[in-house]
Amino acid sequence: MILQASLFTCISTFVAGRIHDGYIIQPPFEGSTKQSSFTLPTTNGAPQGFPLSGNGLWYKNPGSSWSQEWLPVGNGYLGAMAPGGTTEETTLLNIESLWSGGPFQDPSYNGGNKQPSEQSTMAQDMQRIRQDIFQSPNGTIDNIEELSTDAGAYGSYSAAGYLIATLQTDKDGSNITDYARWLDMDKAILRTSWKRNQIKFDRTTFCSNPLQACLQQVTSTSNVLPNITYSFSTDLVSGLPQASVQCLDRSTIILRNTVANPGMAYEIIGRVSTLPSTSSVQCTPQGSSNATITVSGAKESWITWVGDTEYDINAGDPNHGFTFKGSDPHSRLLALINNIPSPISTATFTSLLNQHTKAYQSLLGSFSLSLNQNPDLSKATDEIRDAYEVDKGDSYLEWLTFNFGRYLLTGSAPGKLPANLQGKWAKDGSNPWSGDYHANINLQMNYWFAEMTNMDVTKSLFDYMEKTWAPRGAYTAHVLYNISRGWVTHNEIFGHTGMKLLDNSAQWADYPESAVWMMMHAWDHFDYTNDVQWWKTQGWPLIKGVASFHLDKLVPDLRFNDSTLVVNPCNSPEQAPITLGCAHAQQLIWQLFNAVEKGFNFSGDQDVEFLQEVKQKKAQVDKGIHIGSWGQLQEWKVDMDSPSDTHRHLSHLIGLYPGYAISSYDPAIQTAPNASSTYTKDQVLSAARTSLSHRGNGSASDGDAGWEKAWRAACWAQLGDELMFYHELTYTIQRNFGPNLFSLYSPYDPTDPTQIFQIDANFGFPAAMLNALIQAPATHSSTTTQTITLLPALPSTWPTGSIKGARIRGGITLDMNWKNQKLDTVTITVDADVGQFGRNHVVEVIYSGKVIKEIGIPLAKGVSRVFSFSG
Ligand SMILES: *[C@@H]1O[C@H](CO)[C@@H](O)[C@H](O)[C@H]1NC(C)=O
Ligand SMILES: *[C@@H]1O[C@H](CO)[C@@H](O)[C@H](O)[C@H]1NC(C)=O
Ligand SMILES: *[C@@H]1O[C@H](CO)[C@@H](O)[C@H](O)[C@H]1NC(C)=O
Ligand SMILES: *[C@@H]1O[C@H](CO)[C@@H](O)[C@H](O)[C@H]1NC(C)=O
Ligand SMILES: *[C@@H]1O[C@H](CO)[C@@H](O)[C@H](O)[C@H]1NC(C)=O
Ligand SMILES: *[C@@H]1O[C@H](CO)[C@@H](O)[C@H](O)[C@H]1NC(C)=O
Ligand SMILES: *[C@@H]1O[C@H](CO)[C@@H](O)[C@H](O)[C@H]1NC(C)=O
Ligand SMILES: *[C@@H]1O[C@H](CO)[C@@H](O)[C@H](O)[C@H]1NC(C)=O
Ligand SMILES: *[C@@H]1O[C@H](CO)[C@@H](O)[C@H](O)[C@H]1NC(C)=O
Repeated sequence: MILQASLFTCISTFVAGRIHDGYIIQPPFEGSTKQSSFTLPTTNGAPQGFPLSGNGLWYKNPGSSWSQEWLPVGNGYLGAMAPGGTTEETTLLNIESLWSGGPFQDPSYNGGNKQPSEQSTMAQDMQRIRQDIFQSPNGTIDNIEELSTDAGAYGSYSAAGYLIATLQTDKDGSNITDYARWLDMDKAILRTSWKRNQIKFDRTTFCSNPLQACLQQVTSTSNVLPNITYSFSTDLVSGLPQASVQCLDRSTIILRNTVANPGMAYEIIGRVSTLPSTSSVQCTPQGSSNATITVSGAKESWITWVGDTEYDINAGDPNHGFTFKGSDPHSRLLALINNIPSPISTATFTSLLNQHTKAYQSLLGSFSLSLNQNPDLSKATDEIRDAYEVDKGDSYLEWLTFNFGRYLLTGSAPGKLPANLQGKWAKDGSNPWSGDYHANINLQMNYWFAEMTNMDVTKSLFDYMEKTWAPRGAYTAHVLYNISRGWVTHNEIFGHTGMKLLDNSAQWADYPESAVWMMMHAWDHFDYTNDVQWWKTQGWPLIKGVASFHLDKLVPDLRFNDSTLVVNPCNSPEQAPITLGCAHAQQLIWQLFNAVEKGFNFSGDQDVEFLQEVKQKKAQVDKGIHIGSWGQLQEWKVDMDSPSDTHRHLSHLIGLYPGYAISSYDPAIQTAPNASSTYTKDQVLSAARTSLSHRGNGSASDGDAGWEKAWRAACWAQLGDELMFYHELTYTIQRNFGPNLFSLYSPYDPTDPTQIFQIDANFGFPAAMLNALIQAPATHSSTTTQTITLLPALPSTWPTGSIKGARIRGGITLDMNWKNQKLDTVTITVDADVGQFGRNHVVEVIYSGKVIKEIGIPLAKGVSRVFSFSG
């Protein structure tokens, strides 16, 4: 409060300064002479134009490290990162489908699969491997290398180049004052402002989803800007061939390149517009490869750019020879850029910006969170981050990091491809872990909060699975597993569905359950939205394909001979023992079969035999819940967990979070018919707690990344342990977040500017926070009561707050607020569509261990009701 007051004081000193729509506004531009009368030294507080709510990141210096300091904008199709330069701004450009490798590099690329001729050998090898595992004295074998294949031209997500925009003044940066750069998360724009010799400059950058284009504007308080040059360059992107940059016309430059040689072709077109239109705009070819646009005599200047590749997500099936090759992007890009009004005027720019902001806000949906946070606008974001401590926390920075996660998803998901390991932001030609789609935690974590925070961003995720995994995954099922229905994948882009040969291959590659985990997202999307049309056309076919494969892959357990069905061989993701009945796989498959049963009636599918087979195998399948010798929840069916295993993944706790096999454990359903012992739910939860606590805090020598901590935080929240939850949550930021709040793969180290950015913890963080406030896990059957647990792990640092517009499974919207550490009011609105589709749950609202409300659904078609009460 005190700090906010000081801000108000500060504003009142600059005469005409006003607070408007929650922003600090500046008076209209006037001549440079008048500017000096209301100097606002930015070093004393957030810059003019920064959201008063504090919903943004701001800095007093330009960024130097890309991964720690630059700031991102994106529209799903394109990404851009800028340091916030003054005389020169170097904006790094990304195009979502720009990949080296794959069929564009090697026509014989086949997704890392075996050849058809190897099929029968593989089938025999698989049989022998299974037998070896069943008969092995300790239930493990050393390798399964014969099943894996050299990754071949796997390739990498690649940066596309830079936009270099230069104000032709002295470049020594002298006489620059009042510098600030910031990301405004109310509007999704990036801004830099500074003064040079009393003239104030302002640069605004954003990427619009509706336009599939990015825009950058420069203005000043002078009547005329210095000359500006604009060029594209690939020189600074390591590993990228040098692009040809040419003039398309007086005000348009075009970059054409291939990502590798040979490799995928791509193009970026930039068009400059100025005010007044009498200013000079001239594109000059400089040799054959370095066209530059020079602007002189302008008061305002804009560059708009669009970019695309020849990748076509619809050409990844057998009909297209798995080529993924589409048409040259040139005419599509011309159409996009011609769609933008030209020349741009101040008014059209404002309307394009408003259109962008509206689209951005609509992606965020009606959800909002308040922690009653009290932003300290006198401190820049990096200063706030530097002062952040484990356990002590800071509700403002946590709120900001929550919003930043949602911001990043709006910037990376709503294109043609889903958010990858770095969202859509990558710096080099070859990026860490290829900047790919690791589907053993990372891709999943990217979307953990999307449904509950009511974001409509999953289309590209499901398209990606349907169009790039399923087609070649059917081939993999056949040649590697001798299974002729459904599909499987072990990883990643261009339909790379095979097992990738690497050191200790199984640990990395033997993960045929990646799609099973992803099917949680497919079920959830239907469960949250009741979108029956989507379920029939995309969700159900995906789930049926994956379930079909696993029906055939399960085998009778010939080690324990307990009449159960198990996976064999299996690994926990990235854990070495190759064994049978891995808890992770068994829990996921059981949850998948539940989804099939719950969703069948809405699928329009008449294949009753399939449903019967799923029901039958679901009864037989080992449920992956075994309590071991030291009270742990076993990671493998053979009791061999080590109490000192602090592995980064929590694979066997998948049913605790994000799944429900552990957290909603029901002995009546999950006890095997011939089980030697039965567990109560409390015993299972206590075993999960033992395992979680032995797993450590996510900083062991095998990995010290942010996502490990965010996952642990979510699990502790699930167990209702607010102290451990908050410990891990705060540790996530303190240990792994950079000054720009990007999550870093290693502990943040300001002396190493090349640290790896990996986006998953940016997305896991909001999910973990949410799980401390609302839990409403999926249920095993459609008649099971849906529980909604409120404030299960509320830390003492968030005594008061509210959530509006949370989406709950089954078509429910929930608003709540809490005060002084206690639930205050809750409003539950049931969507009229629920009854219409016969998805009839009884809903129980639980607070502080008690059922405080039971709501019977269905409602009559078209009726919606509101329940309000005090808790
Ligand atoms: C491969 O699958 C076919 C069809 O199910 C089966 O007849 C054959 O025995 C399998 N081969 C091996 C080696 O398991
Ligand atoms: C299991 O036994 C095999 C062969 O005896 C041995 O090589 C392997 O290290 C053992 N694995 C474990 C996890 O103990
Ligand atoms: C910096 O400002 C001073 C005083 O206004 C002026 O004399 C000088 O020429 C400026 N330097 C540059 C490089 O513009
Ligand atoms: C292209 O232009 C930029 C900016 O003027 C310059 O730095 C670079 O050296 C030029 N490259 C070539 C190949 O001419
Ligand atoms: C600005 O650009 C114009 C047109 O290219 C040129 O004539 C003029 O010399 C430039 N001014 C400066 C200060 O570089
Ligand atoms: C399990 O049953 C199979 C088939 O009946 C048998 O070959 C095997 O020896 C049994 N294993 C054990 C450990 O009893
Ligand atoms: C229980 O075990 C017996 C003996 O192994 C077996 O015959 C029976 O089918 C099993 N029951 C179920 C439901 O699996
Ligand atoms: C599906 O519909 C059938 C027939 O109406 C009904 O008997 C069954 O209980 C429904 N199943 C589920 C899972 O809702
Ligand atoms: C994390 O765990 C390590 C190893 O047990 C310990 O040294 C460290 O103090 C812990 N840090 C936090 C913040 O929990």
